[in-house]
Amino acid sequence: MRDFHATLPDYAPTPLIELPLLARELGVGRVFVKDESSRLGLPAFKALGASWAVRRILAERAASGEDALPVTLVTATDGNHGRAVARMARLLGQRAHVFVPQGVHPQAVSAIAAERAEVTQVAGPYDQAVRLAAEASAAADSVLVQDTAWPGYERIPGWIVEGYSTLCAEIDEQLTAAGVTSGPGLVAVPVGVGSLAQAVVTHYRSRPSGRGPALLSVEPEAAACVLESLSLGAPVSITTGATTMAGLNCGTPSSIAWPHLRDGLDAAVAITDPDAARAAARLAELGVSSGPCGAAALAGLRAALTGAGADERRTTLGLGPCSVVVLLSTEGTAANPYSDAGPAAAGRPTS
Ligand SMILES: Cc1ncc(COP(=O)(O)O)c(C=O)c1O
Repeated sequence: MRDFHATLPDYAPTPLIELPLLARELGVGRVFVKDESSRLGLPAFKALGASWAVRRILAERAASGEDALPVTLVTATDGNHGRAVARMARLLGQRAHVFVPQGVHPQAVSAIAAERAEVTQVAGPYDQAVRLAAEASAAADSVLVQDTAWPGYERIPGWIVEGYSTLCAEIDEQLTAAGVTSGPGLVAVPVGVGSLAQAVVTHYRSRPSGRGPALLSVEPEAAACVLESLSLGAPVSITTGATTMAGLNCGTPSSIAWPHLRDGLDAAVAITDPDAARAAARLAELGVSSGPCGAAALAGLRAALTGAGADERRTTLGLGPCSVVVLLSTEGTAANPYSDAGPAAAGRPTS
């Protein structure tokens, strides 16, 4: 996967930034933040998956002689994935049609349109936008490029997950270069439908020796479908609310992610918008550009490692004063420009 990404014009490994002050604050050995604020020319990690999936789709079409006309790449998005699909379509001379649910910042919607995509705004939540995108992709010369799976639609979301593996491969190299020889003790992952977490679980649970790090999923309280599914022991859809963590505002776990999340996650936590805003502000003080979704990783880590019951949770997660923690900061502030004023302040629907 990295060889493929390395062929893309804007590819460079994103920084893995060590934050010793945060390590001290949280009582662990070392804290690193994987900073996805600039990835393949966009302010979030998502292009890693979209680029690989689009490449596979176009290669298949070429192999079967279906490439005489441009294809329309159809998708639904909370912002970042749709922008990445639209960017790939533009770069490769194809078309994109992107369905955007309510609650996505107008600047994020404009950024998708600026990639010359057709944008359809949906007066409903993310799951509804996904349904409408799937329907629209039945049109001639259209392909659905969705970053979530359901029974009968798994291949393309699987390619997207494969694309995300570059992020984990880079972390391995960067930790080794930083002198961390035995891998991290915990990795915190912001979760929407769980495709990124699926890539993370696959990476860290495929190692020949040992179980690898503890893996912590972090969701908004308004959209904690993975936490709810884990509590019930089966994947469920939930009714989502409003949250500044737009990219995590999803009501249904990806069907191909679910078994990995159920068997591979060690802990799951839901956080509030103010938690995410505080974490983003702290990261900004420390020099890291992190939007609400990206900062969710730090907010979730704080929730796990502080407050009542923290000692027990640290023991359960196998964390001690020397542990190494990696936070996936999956977007920069430019991806999702909400401040801690919250969704209502920017005219975002609150229900
Ligand atoms: C910035 C950001 N972080 C994390 C995620 C979560 O990824 P997933 O939906 O694969 O769980 C998203 C999804 O759109 C996102 O945009």
